[in-house]
Amino acid sequence: MRFLLFVGASNTLAESEIEAQISGATLYQPNVYLFEALDELEAQRLVTNLGCSIKLAQELPGVAPVMESLADLVTAKNFSVTCLDNFQLSNQTNQELKTVLAKGRFILPKDQFGLSPILLKKHRIDEFLLDNHREEVWKTIWVHNFEHWIKKDRHMPFANAKAGILPPKIARSMVNLVPFDPQGKLLVDPFCGSGRLLVEAAERGYRVAGTDILEEQVRETQANLKFLGFEAQVSVLDATHLSDLFYDIDAIVTEPFLGKPNLRPDQIKYLVPGLQKLYLGCLKDWHKALKPGGFIVMVFPSFDTGKQVYKTSSIIDGKLELSYNLLKRGILYSRPNADVRREIVILQKK
Ligand SMILES: C[S@@+](CC[C@H](N)C(=O)[O-])C[C@H]1O[C@@H](n2cnc3c(N)ncnc32)[C@H](O)[C@@H]1O
Repeated sequence: MRFLLFVGASNTLAESEIEAQISGATLYQPNVYLFEALDELEAQRLVTNLGCSIKLAQELPGVAPVMESLADLVTAKNFSVTCLDNFQLSNQTNQELKTVLAKGRFILPKDQFGLSPILLKKHRIDEFLLDNHREEVWKTIWVHNFEHWIKKDRHMPFANAKAGILPPKIARSMVNLVPFDPQGKLLVDPFCGSGRLLVEAAERGYRVAGTDILEEQVRETQANLKFLGFEAQVSVLDATHLSDLFYDIDAIVTEPFLGKPNLRPDQIKYLVPGLQKLYLGCLKDWHKALKPGGFIVMVFPSFDTGKQVYKTSSIIDGKLELSYNLLKRGILYSRPNADVRREIVILQKK
């Protein structure tokens, strides 16, 4: 069976997450991926795990993309039809829709991605997506659990908009870049902050542990994990000494210390060598703490002064080749208007 996955943001992080988690998925159109699964349940299980997923539609094979053929398929009071390949429905088509499908209330989509998950769920809307060019009809069968994502974003004990906090969906996507089944595996975040990554990893089935140099952050992580029903070893530790406490780690996923925010261009050129030294120290120590074949998914910041771009990820070239395989780099994620750009890198211990 064929399914369309709608993602929240069309970026290399979403693309890499899907590549790691859904084999054979291909880009159907911007923000929409096509994949095959055995049945509806398997497809839903796959996309529920992802940070980037927003909604899922299933193909209705044999149904022609014309209004009449949809009439029998509407079961809800409210319904909506979106043309994926040509969003603007003409007034005539709209009229035709209303008369042919006189069964319920027609909700007009606002763009070619159809209705938002919140609208779909709140008003229990049957949503059909037509592709006239490919002669395909799809029906939305799942939307992401936005209430749970909002709870994790805004209503955890320590979940305010403090600088440096990863949005939960981004944290989930980062966790999913580790290309194996998490059940029972140990994932550690050595710069755990308020524990966003660890919460997502725990929800994916990892055993989790974290460290942070500040006791306050350790307490925040513990409180956030407990709030969602998870237990973990969280300790005060300098990340360059992780191997003092851990061995045989399956995966390290982390957004490390990125430097103080809002630095002036002349300060950035001093910050970057300091960060690179810290990251090199970490990667050297983490090699001892990881299992052979263990993974690191790590954010490397880059800074644009207007005159020059400073990339901390340049430390990967050369020096680390003896100890790690570079699986992927150039996975980009930035917050809107951020002065720090984040490049996510995936390494595997040799
Ligand atoms: C960018 S924040 C991590 C945010 C975290 N990903 C989250 O979403 O909550 C970096 C964290 O690294 C911690 N930190 C800074 N230097 C450290 C070091 N040398 N070892 C361990 N933690 C450190 C800071 O206290 C801060 O909590």
